[in-house]
Amino acid sequence: MSFSLANISKFFSSAVGSKSEASIIGIDIGASSAKVVQLRASRGRAVLETYGEISLGPYGGVAIGKAVKLTAEKISEALLDLMREANVTSRSGGLSIPFSASLVSVLEMPKVDKDSLKRMVPIEARKYIPLPASEVTLDWFAIPSGEHGESAFDQVEEPKVSHAKMQEILLVAIHNEILRDYQKVAESSAIEVNFYEIEIFSATRSSMGHGTAPVLVVDLGAATTKMYIVERGVVRLTHLLTMGGQHMTDTLARSLTWEFEKAERVKREIGLIASSAYSIDENDKIKTALLSTLSRVFSEIDRVLLSYGQRYNKNVSHVLLTGGGASLPGISEYAKQTLHADVEIANPFSHTEVPAFLKDVLKQIGPGFAVSVGLALRDLKQE
Ligand SMILES: Nc1ncnc2c1ncn2[C@@H]1O[C@H](COP(=O)(O)OP(=O)(O)OP(=O)(O)O)[C@@H](O)[C@H]1O
Ligand SMILES: [Mg+2]
Repeated sequence: MSFSLANISKFFSSAVGSKSEASIIGIDIGASSAKVVQLRASRGRAVLETYGEISLGPYGGVAIGKAVKLTAEKISEALLDLMREANVTSRSGGLSIPFSASLVSVLEMPKVDKDSLKRMVPIEARKYIPLPASEVTLDWFAIPSGEHGESAFDQVEEPKVSHAKMQEILLVAIHNEILRDYQKVAESSAIEVNFYEIEIFSATRSSMGHGTAPVLVVDLGAATTKMYIVERGVVRLTHLLTMGGQHMTDTLARSLTWEFEKAERVKREIGLIASSAYSIDENDKIKTALLSTLSRVFSEIDRVLLSYGQRYNKNVSHVLLTGGGASLPGISEYAKQTLHADVEIANPFSHTEVPAFLKDVLKQIGPGFAVSVGLALRDLKQE
C-alpha cells in the first residue's frame, strides 16, 4: 500500500494559483472536534465557500469539549454529519495527521545532489526510526541553512553542530497503521485525500505572516497544548504539553460544583470577562478556576521562549495563539499582561476572501480553524 504524505517542503509557497476551478476541502480531526473548510481559487485568491465544526465527544458518549478516542467508523459518521450540516460539496482535499502521531527528526547528511539524497535518506532514517522500513511512510526535505549554520530544527536536547560540508534534513515519519486508519476514515466518508499533512505545518501556513523573525505558535487544544517555534518558514523546535482547554473546564466544574457541560458553556460564553449573569463571588471563582490552568500553560510558554532565546542567543518576541482555546474571551488581554512577548490571536481566515458580514464571527472562531484552513490553502497553491 502506498500513501501520499505531505511533501513538507511545500509549507510556504506564496501565491494561490488554481490547479483547477474545483473546490477543495481541508479536514482536521482534532482530539475534541473535527473541522472542515471548503475553499475555491478565484483570480489568485482563496475564496471561502463554507466551513463547519462538529464536537466528537457525543460520538463517544462524552461531553462536548472533551477529548475522545473514536473508532474509524465513528469518526466517519461524524465527518459525514459535519459535511452535511456545513453544506460541503467538494469531496477532495487534504487531511491532517496529529503531531503526536508523527516522529520528526533532523538528519545530518553530507551535502550531495538530490538523487544521491533520495537514495541515502531512507537508509540514514533507519537509525532514527525504531520501526521496520516497511511499516513507516517517510517524507523529508533539506532545511535551508541558517545564517550561522546553526541547527534549524531542534527537538533533541543538544544543538547539533553543522559544518559547511553537511546539511540538515527534516525527516517526518508516520506509522503506516496510523495512515491506514485515516485512509479507512476517508474511504468510508467518500473523501478523496490528495495529501496528508502533519497539523503543525498546516497551522503554520494559515496563521503566519511572511516575516522572518522567529515566532512561537501555540495551539491550545482540548487535552494538549502544542508549541512550535517557526523561523523563516521552518519549524525549529516543538514542545507538547499535556494540558489544554479540557482541564480549564474540569477545574471550573469542580470549583463551582457544576456539570462539565455547564462549565464548558460558561467558559466559552464569558471566559475571563466578568458577566452580570453571575454574582461577584461566582465571577471571581470562574476567573480563578480558568486561570489556574491557563497560568500554568502560560508559564510553560515563557519557559519555552526563554530556553530558545538562551540557546540560540535570540529573542523570540512574538507569540501566536491558535486552537479552540485561543477563542477564550479575555485571553488576549491576559496573555499580553502575562507573557514576555507580543501576543497575537491567529486569524487564519484572513488569508481567504470572505463575505463582509462574516468577518467578525470568523475572526472570533478562527483560531480553531488554523489547521483546516492551512490544509485547504495548501491544495490551492500552485505547484
Ligand atoms: N470560545 C471558546 N472559549 C474558550 N475555549 C474554547 C472556545 N471554543 C473552544 N474552546 C476550547 O478549545 C478546546 C478545543 O480546541 P481545538 O478544537 O483546537 O482542539 P482539538 O483540535 O480538538 O484538539 P487537539 O488539537 O489537541 O487534537 C476545548 O477545550 C474547548 O473547550
Ligand atoms: Mg487541533
